[in-house]
Amino acid sequence: MKANVSNKVIFNNTVLRDGHQSLAATRMRTEQMLPILSDLDSLGFGALETWGGATIDAGLRFLKEFPFDRLDALKKGTPKTPHMMLLRGQNIVQYSNFPDDVVEAFVHMSAKHGMDIFRIFDALNDVRNIETAVRAAKAAGKHAQGVICYTASPFHTVEKFLEMGVELEAIGCDSICLKDMAGLVPPYVAFRIVKGLKERVKIPVIVHTHETAGLGAPTYYAAIEAGVDQVDTSIVPFANGTGQPDTVRMLSLLEDHPRCPSYDRPTLQRIREHLTTVYKELSNFTSVTNEVVDSDALTYQVPGGMLSNFRNQLKDQKMEDRFEEVFREIPVVREALGWIPLVTPTSQIVGVQAMLNVKFGRWKNFAPQAMDIALGYYGQTPAPVDKEVRALAAKISKKDPIDVRPADLLKPRMDALREELRKQEFPDDDEHCVIHAMFPQELRQYYEAKKKAAEPKETVVATPAPAAPPPPAAPRAGGGPVKRFALQIEGNDYAVEVEEIRQ
Ligand code: CO
Repeated sequence: MKANVSNKVIFNNTVLRDGHQSLAATRMRTEQMLPILSDLDSLGFGALETWGGATIDAGLRFLKEFPFDRLDALKKGTPKTPHMMLLRGQNIVQYSNFPDDVVEAFVHMSAKHGMDIFRIFDALNDVRNIETAVRAAKAAGKHAQGVICYTASPFHTVEKFLEMGVELEAIGCDSICLKDMAGLVPPYVAFRIVKGLKERVKIPVIVHTHETAGLGAPTYYAAIEAGVDQVDTSIVPFANGTGQPDTVRMLSLLEDHPRCPSYDRPTLQRIREHLTTVYKELSNFTSVTNEVVDSDALTYQVPGGMLSNFRNQLKDQKMEDRFEEVFREIPVVREALGWIPLVTPTSQIVGVQAMLNVKFGRWKNFAPQAMDIALGYYGQTPAPVDKEVRALAAKISKKDPIDVRPADLLKPRMDALREELRKQEFPDDDEHCVIHAMFPQELRQYYEAKKKAAEPKETVVATPAPAAPPPPAAPRAGGGPVKRFALQIEGNDYAVEVEEIRQ
């Protein structure tokens, strides 16, 4: 990471990761990125966020791109600017915990392919779940950025966030990011958190937010006033709305401010022109609802993507008329589950449980994932889980509550993964092992698609193949890959869709 020698604020650019993850369902292809790489690299951003989050899953699943190939291509095109990735701690880029040896191998392979800055978070803000990744990044000689996930609750005072910041510095993080995945941090709260962190820690402080509820740019302005070192911006049309505030917009907002940085506007304009074409190409995956300010997110204090998913789920359950009731149940569920932040996957788990509580009576139907949270299988919750709710989860699931770090219960897996790859006659290097660990089915489908593409065609078609996007899918406001879970409730089967929102 570049040292902040002047007092100017530094912009990191997210257009190659969060920008299209938030506004185009993570569907930007590597080839659509290539034309802007040299311009992006010339601007002198603090970092380019190029990988991680949902890009690995979506790239493999929908675009049939091997994740490390994309990283290689982007690194080659932007050799001057540090690369940054979003890592979900012990979940790597998935939703469940992986053993330490897999986390370590993933970080080492990412570093080998050019990743410089690892931005590492845990959905529960359990620092134990990010320590292995932090250690691995440092061992690889790279930058470990620890994350504080912002969430509003009676438990989450400014002081609590500051305590976590001190803890992150103590475990060896090189910087701290206040990550507001839902765009809900009010500007003055961001001001107080940043100011407090700057007083208590020596490492740089970064703020990452989204414009979903219209607070993003003012929040950055307040954070800059409070002394934040860096903020994340994107480039329109993959900016604003559910994405990060646009770079040009932030420059104008800061005009004449002593901390206003300098990024070449004609270059930004050139990038914007190319991205406008790409945005149109991705029209199957974009949606007006993602582009406008969502004031419901403010009213209900939940991530915007969660709201739209939720309306669909209530409709499926024929519970549209109970929307308000279900939303009033969300804080009840959160409190019982130790005031967990609402970020993938906890936002969906809390939402589903609130719906079940309203439909069947409080805790009459306990969703398996919610029970796992109550029992400690996701990690330590910010506040203690309600004792009765924990006992109930243990009784129904017949699982013992745990207080250890969940990954401590997992055995090393790299050897077994390699063996599985050999059996399928796939490459068995560490890159494939870590991808296979998280996405076994998607990896197999990737090779099947590749094999099919390599088969000789019986007839030669003379018309040039259009570079068409994959067949249309209904645009989804939440943005990312959808996972289906089957729930059995009183003998009835329910399909629950869990969708990656944005991070
Ligand atoms: Co984000």
